Amino acid sequence: MSRKKIAVVGAGHVGASAAMWLALKELGDVVLLDIVEGTPQGKSLDLMEAAPVESFDSRITGTNDYKDTAGSDLVIITAGIPRKPGMSRSDLINTNTGILKTVVEGIVKYSPDTTLLIVTNPLDVMVYAAWKYSGLPARKVMGLSGALDGARLRAFISMELGVSVEDVHAMVIGGHADEMVPLKRYSTVSGIPVTQLIPDDRLDAIMGRTKKAGGEIVALLKTGSAYYAPSAAVVEMAEAIIKDKKRVIPCAAYCDGQYGVKDIFIGVPAVLGASGVERIIEVELDQQERAAFTASVAAVSGLIKELKIGE
Ligand code: APR
Repeated sequence: MSRKKIAVVGAGHVGASAAMWLALKELGDVVLLDIVEGTPQGKSLDLMEAAPVESFDSRITGTNDYKDTAGSDLVIITAGIPRKPGMSRSDLINTNTGILKTVVEGIVKYSPDTTLLIVTNPLDVMVYAAWKYSGLPARKVMGLSGALDGARLRAFISMELGVSVEDVHAMVIGGHADEMVPLKRYSTVSGIPVTQLIPDDRLDAIMGRTKKAGGEIVALLKTGSAYYAPSAAVVEMAEAIIKDKKRVIPCAAYCDGQYGVKDIFIGVPAVLGASGVERIIEVELDQQERAAFTASVAAVSGLIKELKIGE
């Protein structure tokens, strides 16, 4: 069986870390691409020199040329710029949409049947743009949200209870922004609802911390945003697709009527397998959860309206 080929676009913090997890798990050979000359080549070589230590045989190469990504089974896109002082959210959207356009067009030219996993923020709207630019079926385009937000919530629950992270499951849906919707009713420890294990006020504080978890890291780092958990979480999604595991992982997936919304990518529980998003699972939402999800959808729709896709 030949190895899978995985391209990672953007060899910055998230991209390089994703390449590392992919190689450690031997999910395939990795091509790291960046616009900056030397960066992807240098980081790839550095990773190749770690291979003997960690005993992985994945080949990692760096490039600035989309030709080298030809025939990729899966592409993780992390290219973009962070929001800078004085930059409005619309400016960021338009800059990163421009970057996404170049990247997606470069990728699909050489890998017309690939699957795209988007990490660039603002997430849900970038996934929408990537889908439009790619011409790929919607099920083959998705974004990192619930896998990361849920991992953060799992970490906080495990810290609170002093129990293994392995036994903690947590579900976060909605947009990958402050309006995300952590679902405490669907978060469990070995099947026990967390609502039975953690008092309400503490649980609310944990849910609140989850919503702001990205910002908490930015405030600590001062010069960038999180990358270990984001890269690990996107590789979890990649693994589900590459190994056709049919894992149920909330992510920004295309909704066509599910949850009562249409023509939008937003965080919902999805079955991830070889075909990409194979199915969206609709969980029952109570009134409060539904209201929070609706508000999140409204926030993402508002941002999509600001998109200038050049139609
Ligand atoms: N083509 C290819 N690579 C590009 C392009 C482009 N047009 N424009 C920028 N890049 C590269 C940059 O050169 C840089 O190496 O994207 C990389 C981004 O890396 P970082 O600045 O380190 O950002 P990172 O922390 O990895 O975050 C990337 O993921 O979590 C999100 O909000 C985050 O949108 C951001 C993205």
